[in-house]
Amino acid sequence: MRGYSLDDVLLEPQFSSIRSRLDTDTSTYLTDKTKISSPIMATNMSTITELDMMEVMNQVGGVGALHRFMKPYKSVQIVADAVNKKVNPVVSSIGIGDEEYHRATQLMKYGHSIILIDVAHGHSIGVVEQLAKLKQFNPNGEYIVGNIATGRAANDFINYGASALRVGIGGGSRCLTRTVTGHGVPNLTALLEVAKIRDKHYKNTGRYVPVIIDGGIKNSGDMVKALYFGADVICIGNLLAGTEETPGEKITRDGKHFKKYYGMASKEAQDTHRGGMKAGTASEGFSELVPYKGSAKPILEELIGGIRSGLTYSGARNIIMLRQKGKPIYISDASRGESKL
Ligand code: XMP
Repeated sequence: MRGYSLDDVLLEPQFSSIRSRLDTDTSTYLTDKTKISSPIMATNMSTITELDMMEVMNQVGGVGALHRFMKPYKSVQIVADAVNKKVNPVVSSIGIGDEEYHRATQLMKYGHSIILIDVAHGHSIGVVEQLAKLKQFNPNGEYIVGNIATGRAANDFINYGASALRVGIGGGSRCLTRTVTGHGVPNLTALLEVAKIRDKHYKNTGRYVPVIIDGGIKNSGDMVKALYFGADVICIGNLLAGTEETPGEKITRDGKHFKKYYGMASKEAQDTHRGGMKAGTASEGFSELVPYKGSAKPILEELIGGIRSGLTYSGARNIIMLRQKGKPIYISDASRGESKL
């Protein structure tokens, strides 16, 4: 089988009867029950999302997913603060095992709290067990599960009752998973495989399980293409790295300002949050200084503006119409250069 990435495609412009890009609706489903007004999630990395990012994401109609690289009481405190500041919905992350299960049970006490069960290789026994336990604890809870990259994983987690699926393995800007492990699926192919299964379940059962594409998103064009191909929400890290609302101090070198952005499976992340690499494990990410970018808000507004514009190029007023009216075209290497992709 051949794998494709978002850079392998474009959408052909379609006749548009929409007079202004402001006449478009970017609302979408984050989970099978919860809607948000902009299809963007700030990823749950320790150099991207804590309270400030959750707030700014909420202001633009998206969502910031709180990371889990802190003691459970600290996540609970941040979630409580977010709820007090009227952030809605609140997404916070957990991993696998008992301590993480307890973190989730505490987090769910606050406001509209959605749990993201986030593991690098999500289609694994620990995640299946965690989801089952949490569904038993709170059958009405909302559980986003990830990361996965295959139709088989999507089928399993939809059957196990996941509220949304996060898709993408090894495509992140600070990821080394594909080079270290030889595993991964190019992001467009992963999205297509998962969306195909999701659509089949929707047809058969009427339950629509949103798909969150994650890793390697470079611009609003990638977002529009992903929405066309079946993503409901776009998860971003690199596009927000270096902004004021990310955790971490500004670093000054030769008069220029930077912030740190590192993969959660990098040595730097393990040293910072886990007291070093575990014996017998390899790092699957790396760390970099990124230029300081100021507030995330104008960046997010620009991205959302780009999505609105993208909808009008397909003559679509909303994401559902984009999927109906859009027409993809697979492009050559030469046209990729011409497109500056
Ligand atoms: P971008 O490209 O937006 O990607 O920066 C963010 C996503 O990258 C994933 N991630 C990792 N993947 N090793 C990996 O293989 C890592 O150390 C790592 N850290 C983050 C994650 O899915 C995130 O949302």
